[in-house]
Amino acid sequence: MLKQTTFFASSLIFLCFLHCSTLILSQAPALAPAPPGPTNVTKILEKAGSFSVLIRLLKSSQIVSNLNNQLNDSNNGITIFAPSDNAFSSLKPGTLNSLTDQQQSELLQFHMIPSYLTTSQFQTVSNPLRTQAGGDVTSGRFAFNITTTGNSVNITTGLTNTSVSGTVYTDGQLAIYQVDKVLLPIDVFTPKPPAPAPAPEKPKKKKHISEGPSTAADASGAVSNYILITFNVVVVYGVAIVAAMLVTL
Ligand SMILES: *[C@@H]1O[C@H](CO)[C@@H](O)[C@H](O)[C@H]1NC(C)=O
Ligand SMILES: *[C@@H]1O[C@H](CO)[C@@H](O)[C@H](O)[C@H]1NC(C)=O
Ligand SMILES: *[C@@H]1O[C@H](CO)[C@@H](O)[C@H](O)[C@H]1NC(C)=O
Ligand SMILES: *[C@@H]1O[C@H](CO)[C@@H](O)[C@H](O)[C@H]1NC(C)=O
Ligand SMILES: *[C@@H]1O[C@H](CO)[C@@H](O)[C@H](O)[C@H]1NC(C)=O
Repeated sequence: MLKQTTFFASSLIFLCFLHCSTLILSQAPALAPAPPGPTNVTKILEKAGSFSVLIRLLKSSQIVSNLNNQLNDSNNGITIFAPSDNAFSSLKPGTLNSLTDQQQSELLQFHMIPSYLTTSQFQTVSNPLRTQAGGDVTSGRFAFNITTTGNSVNITTGLTNTSVSGTVYTDGQLAIYQVDKVLLPIDVFTPKPPAPAPAPEKPKKKKHISEGPSTAADASGAVSNYILITFNVVVVYGVAIVAAMLVTL
């Protein structure tokens, strides 16, 4: 009798141990400061917060997978000027949706320099600076200028003047700086002479991208489901072990 009670007590402790250690293990990845493995631009921007429009555009244009692939080759450096959600919401309404998919990609790649730039290197860059949207180095298309005064780093595209408002991330290969305006390339937004008559609205096959920040917090939901499932599996598993031990007694 005493032996059995001791056995049940230790089984309970065992179950509790499984339960607790599982919870700790499941939460560990979320607490880790730098996730191991290849650089994940989406993850970095998600963690920084306030870049949900940029993340959505990077995903829908599939530029994010090109970026992650480029970064997986350690010989490549990239600098991203990341417009905040405020930057996107201060665009003229409909600006993004008026662009073709190709132009949206160019706009995004205009915010990326195909080399790693530290803040001190901003003082010595040679203008105009070629961007990922540029293609041919000599074309001079899709380039912008960076000038510095004291601690302020100014960017001018010919259409947009702004300054770098903060460093989001640097690791020696990838640098992400926040800008509070979307950098508008002259090559996309140069006003064209007005059309003779407004053409009737043709049905266009185009992704509509909301320019406001997303409210969904689906990632955290997924994590708690994962913990719940793991927990259930472990409890069932633990009970099975106890049952098996009882049978063999
Ligand atoms: C990058 O992180 C995001 C979310 O943090 C995730 O959805 C995506 O699958 C990750 N991509 C890679 C290639 O690991
Ligand atoms: C990164 O590159 C290595 C080889 O250089 C490759 O084995 C690996 O699959 C790549 N990882 C990703 C996520 O592309
Ligand atoms: C940078 O921009 C600020 C205001 O945004 C302006 O006062 C300053 O003169 C600019 N500096 C350069 C070098 O253009
Ligand atoms: C960028 O700098 C180059 C060289 O200094 C200059 O010719 C050009 O006008 C500048 N462009 C803008 C938009 O300021
Ligand atoms: C940007 O700044 C330059 C001078 O630094 C000025 O001539 C130009 O008009 C400004 N452009 C815009 C769009 O504010």
